[in-house]
Amino acid sequence: MINSLQDAILGITEAFKADSFGEKINLGVGAYRDDKGKPYVLPSVKAAEQKVINSNLDKEYAGITGVPSFTKAAAVLAYSSSSSVIKDDRLVITQSISGTGALRIGGEFLARFYPSKKIFIPTPSWANHNALFKDSGLEVEKYRYYNKDTIGLDFEGMLADLKSAPEGSLVLLHACAHNPTGIDPTEEQWKQISDVVKVKKHYPFFDMAYQGFASGDTDRDAFAVRYFVAQGHQLCLAQSFAKNMGLYGERVGAFSIVCDSAEEKKRVDSQIKILVRPLYSNPPVHGARIAAEILNDPSLNKQWLGEVKGMADRIISMRSLLKENLEALGSKHDWSHITSQIGMFAYTGLTPQQMEKLAKENSVYATKDGRISVAGITSGNVKRLAESIHKITS
Ligand SMILES: Cc1ncc(COP(=O)(O)O)c(C=O)c1O
Repeated sequence: MINSLQDAILGITEAFKADSFGEKINLGVGAYRDDKGKPYVLPSVKAAEQKVINSNLDKEYAGITGVPSFTKAAAVLAYSSSSSVIKDDRLVITQSISGTGALRIGGEFLARFYPSKKIFIPTPSWANHNALFKDSGLEVEKYRYYNKDTIGLDFEGMLADLKSAPEGSLVLLHACAHNPTGIDPTEEQWKQISDVVKVKKHYPFFDMAYQGFASGDTDRDAFAVRYFVAQGHQLCLAQSFAKNMGLYGERVGAFSIVCDSAEEKKRVDSQIKILVRPLYSNPPVHGARIAAEILNDPSLNKQWLGEVKGMADRIISMRSLLKENLEALGSKHDWSHITSQIGMFAYTGLTPQQMEKLAKENSVYATKDGRISVAGITSGNVKRLAESIHKITS
C-alpha cells in the first residue's frame, strides 16, 4: 500500500504530466535541477567516473562494509580529519544504500542493541523516517519542530519535548537543511539542544542528507555533528551522497557510529557486519568508487566543492528572486522565511486549499503541505511563479 506522501507526490507527477499548459511548473521533485530545469550531472562526477572506467577495475564483491577508500573519506568529510573519533580510531563506518539504507542499518542496529526502543523524530520530518524506523522495530514518537504561526522553528517546543522524553531515548536530528521545512536551528540553538540531549542521556542519531548542499560549505553544514562529537556525545550518523554529488540513482551513502574506544569499535564493527550480511551481503561498488575519486583526488575534490557551492548558490539566489518578485508585485505578506530557510525545500506557509488553487488555476504543482522544491525554480519561471503565488494569496 502506498503511503499518503508517496500518493501525494505521485498525484503531483501525474497531474503535472497531464497538464498541457506550456509554462507549467513542477515544484514537487526532490532532486536538483539546473537553471533550465534539467537534471544535472556534476562535471566532477563525470570526470571521476571516467577515471574509474579508465582504471579497468574488476567487478569483484566489495567487503561487507563496502569500498574502504570511500568509507574512510566519507568519515573525514563528515567528522573532519582532525576529529578525535578518527585520530583515536573509534569510528565504525559502513557503506550503505544511500541515506535511506544508512538510516535503516541504524534503525536495525539500535532496535537490536539499544535499551530504549523509542525514537523521537521532528514534526514534520522526511516522511520516510516514520516508516523506516517502524519497520526497523522501533517505536516512533514525535517532538515539536515547526511553528506554523512564525513559519520558523518551535525551539521552545522542541526543547520541552526533548526534556519530557523518557531518559535515554533515541533522538533523530536533521544535521542541516531540514526536510521538509528548510528550517535549521542556529549554532547557539544547537548548543542548547546538545545540553538537553546530554542531561537527558538521549542518544542522538543524525541524518545528514545535504552536507554542502545547504550552505555551499561542507564544513559549515557539518557543524552540529562535529559540535556534538566535541561535547563527548556518542552518536550515530547517516550520510547520503545523493544530493551533494548528484548520485541519486547510484545509491551512495554511509552509516557510522562513534564509539568510546578502539576496543568498543571492534565489537560494534563485528555486530554491524553480522547485521548487514543477511540484508544485502555487500553494497554496490560503482557509485562508491566515483565518490571515492572525488573525495580523495585533491584536484577533483576542489572542483566538486566548487560545484556543490554552485548548486547551493543557485538555490539561495532563487529564494531571493522569488521573494523579490513577490515584493515587487506588492504582496503584503512577509516572505522573509523564503530566504531564511535553507536547502532544497521551502515551506511557504500556504494552505492545502491555496496549494490546490496553485495547481488547478496556475499550473504550479507541489505538495499540499505548502512545501516547494526550490530546485525546480529557474530564472525563466520565477516571475510566473511569484505572480501565481501573489494571485492566490491576495
Ligand atoms: C532528510 C532526508 N534523509 C534521507 C534522505 C535519503 O535519501 P537517499 O536515500 O536518496 O540518500 C532524504 C532524501 O530526500 C532526505 O531528505
